[in-house]
Amino acid sequence: MGIVAVGHDRDWLEVRFEDGTPHRFLGTWLRDNITTGRHRDAGQRTFDINSLPEVTIAGASLDADTVTVTFAPEGLDATFDAAWFRLHGSTDDTGAGVTPLPTLWGAEQQGPLEFADHPTLVGDPAKLHDWLVGIRDLGFGLLENLPATPGSILEAVDLFGYLRETNYGRIFEVRDEPDPANLANTRLEIGMHTDNPYRDPVPGLQLLHCLVNESDGGDSRLADGFAVAERIRSDHPDAFELLTTHPVRFRYLDGDSADLQAYKPLIELDSRDQVTCVRYNSRSAQAFDMPGDVMADYYRAYRTLAGLLHDPGARIGFRLGPGQLMAFDNQRVLHGRSAYTTGARHLQGCYADKDSLHSWIRVLEAPR
Ligand code: FE2
Repeated sequence: MGIVAVGHDRDWLEVRFEDGTPHRFLGTWLRDNITTGRHRDAGQRTFDINSLPEVTIAGASLDADTVTVTFAPEGLDATFDAAWFRLHGSTDDTGAGVTPLPTLWGAEQQGPLEFADHPTLVGDPAKLHDWLVGIRDLGFGLLENLPATPGSILEAVDLFGYLRETNYGRIFEVRDEPDPANLANTRLEIGMHTDNPYRDPVPGLQLLHCLVNESDGGDSRLADGFAVAERIRSDHPDAFELLTTHPVRFRYLDGDSADLQAYKPLIELDSRDQVTCVRYNSRSAQAFDMPGDVMADYYRAYRTLAGLLHDPGARIGFRLGPGQLMAFDNQRVLHGRSAYTTGARHLQGCYADKDSLHSWIRVLEAPR
């Protein structure tokens, strides 16, 4: 859609498009975003707002689809085209397009689970893109035909980004151990949880890769924490208010080597009230410190959250076999497992950051 007319006053440029809709653009904003204000190769802005004078619009003219704006007091001319105005002409501040809204799910919304073939993803950028988008939008993705050998989990990380090393090392082991430091290293059932809520930031992605599974149980479970949070927001607004505004403390203490702590709400919102993180881990939650007149209501809200997160109708269950892997958004999707009594079970796990996942999706989508 082209531009048919422009006008201006001291502070505002008005652009009228072919469909008759007028859009107003602030002169200071235009001056801050002139094309020549960015480095030709790096694309980064070469000045700071602090170095700009208070500007006004001294003139504006239209030539085809290009608008030339003259700024005072500098006497500077800068051009802007129709495509640029349309790209930036939105009047809201929702940040649409940076990261799509999540696709919420429960057990009933998930069809048969599909495992992507690792060798195929390595050689097929389109299929890799689809698998990564699934992790971004649904919060998890499944993979198979990785070698069932120690360390092969890193080949899955290599599909999109970089390992996040922690005090547990680059890779951690999930198997029954004689003297466990963590309930994950037993045969006990592990309730639904997110990992490492005592870190800030919480690891954005977790990968778990099965090397051996000869157990008589040990099935994996996933639940969409964002879907549960939205259900609480709509069905229990008072509980949602408490869970999003009262921080609680999480801690991991390991002798002299680690004392990790974070003080955060169980459901975290961004400036637009979108849920950005669910922290839920009864093992590492500390005594809640909050005013006595809040505590009873908070515990009711906490029980509501816990009940919905453990509702079989909110989760999917499946069995990981050797060479299979699950990758999931650890700030959104809760994981757990059923108990087992006999048979070996050995998974390897690691963490990665979500920004590199999102980044690689955009790179794969860029025109070539
Ligand atoms: Fe875990």
